[in-house]
Amino acid sequence: MSSFTDPSTLVCNEAHLSSIGKTSWSAPSNIALVKYWGKFGDQLPCNPSLSITLEHARTQMSFAWRARTYTKESVCDVDFLFEGKAKAAFAQKIQKHLVKLSQVELPFLKYFDFQIEASNTFPHSSGIASSASSMAALSCCLGGMIKTVFGVEVESSYLSRWARLGSGSAARSLYSQMAIWGVWQSDLHQEISSQTTNDFAIGLDQVHPSLQDLKDAILIVDDQEKSVSSRAGHALMENHPHAKARFARAHQNLDALMTAMKTGDLMSFCQIVEAEALELHGLMMTSEPPYILMKPQTLAVISKVQKFREESLIPLCFTLDAGANVHLLYPASEKSEVEKFINDQCLEHCVDGRVIFDQMGTGLKEEKTF
Ligand code: PMV
Repeated sequence: MSSFTDPSTLVCNEAHLSSIGKTSWSAPSNIALVKYWGKFGDQLPCNPSLSITLEHARTQMSFAWRARTYTKESVCDVDFLFEGKAKAAFAQKIQKHLVKLSQVELPFLKYFDFQIEASNTFPHSSGIASSASSMAALSCCLGGMIKTVFGVEVESSYLSRWARLGSGSAARSLYSQMAIWGVWQSDLHQEISSQTTNDFAIGLDQVHPSLQDLKDAILIVDDQEKSVSSRAGHALMENHPHAKARFARAHQNLDALMTAMKTGDLMSFCQIVEAEALELHGLMMTSEPPYILMKPQTLAVISKVQKFREESLIPLCFTLDAGANVHLLYPASEKSEVEKFINDQCLEHCVDGRVIFDQMGTGLKEEKTF
């Protein structure tokens, strides 16, 4: 099967215009170790970021299309059900995204109507980015539709780009294990950094054996909607007093993290990952106006994690999303000791003792059409 180099060449003929079909995919969420915080233009990142792809936290999506024999101003009609129910806000977001794609590079979309059903394997407000998994799942479904209708295979770079246009961090959810998104200037890691671009993420699959099967236990210390959205947070980076220094530091932290990952230096890995998480929240606390998304329970867990690492010499570290919940990262080989620590010392800080156990993942899955 051929792949295309220019998506605008997907032009509908008579045969395409009688097309009806369905495709189903599940796409994972991801958690950044080097954080994307600040954007410009059309969802382009101000600095490079690196993430771990999760395995269990996924959006499952089924996507049915039907060609229409007429065209309307409003472009495509989208019927959308989330977990079996109509959700107007989500439906609007997806429709807006499809309309945008039909305008920027997939004009054939306007000859179709869509019926989409989605569900997440994880709860809302849990410190797992549902925008990343859902926009990645939608990209895969578009790839599935293009393959069926036009008989061409879509490369991951396009899927990642389309996901990015829906939600920045979604660009990284198209790959197994780890992904890097954003232009990264590095003298130390030229082979990889020379492939990076703001347009889409690239996969990083040569992960050091000690980091393969990395575990991520997500401690739900707060299950409320956060007070400041990521969209507002990104916008506050525009005139942030530390923006320039931050964007430069992300390159340095990515350099140091890649070196630690290459050599399997897990203690350095822990230090850099934690520094990045605290820097993200430091940027929030020094925005104009400043704000705090961490909660007392976040800090209680952080100090226990650092003490546990110092005493046990087990490379357990934390990272934070733009929210209060804490991701604990540890090698699979330390599972029993770390999970004992979580059960004995951390559950008291979690809402109803809730922890989601996840790990570095295998990426996209085509599902049986449901
Ligand atoms: O993709 P957005 O716009 O939701 O931003 C994500 C920002 C962070 O999760 C805080 C960092 C990241 O790189 O994922």
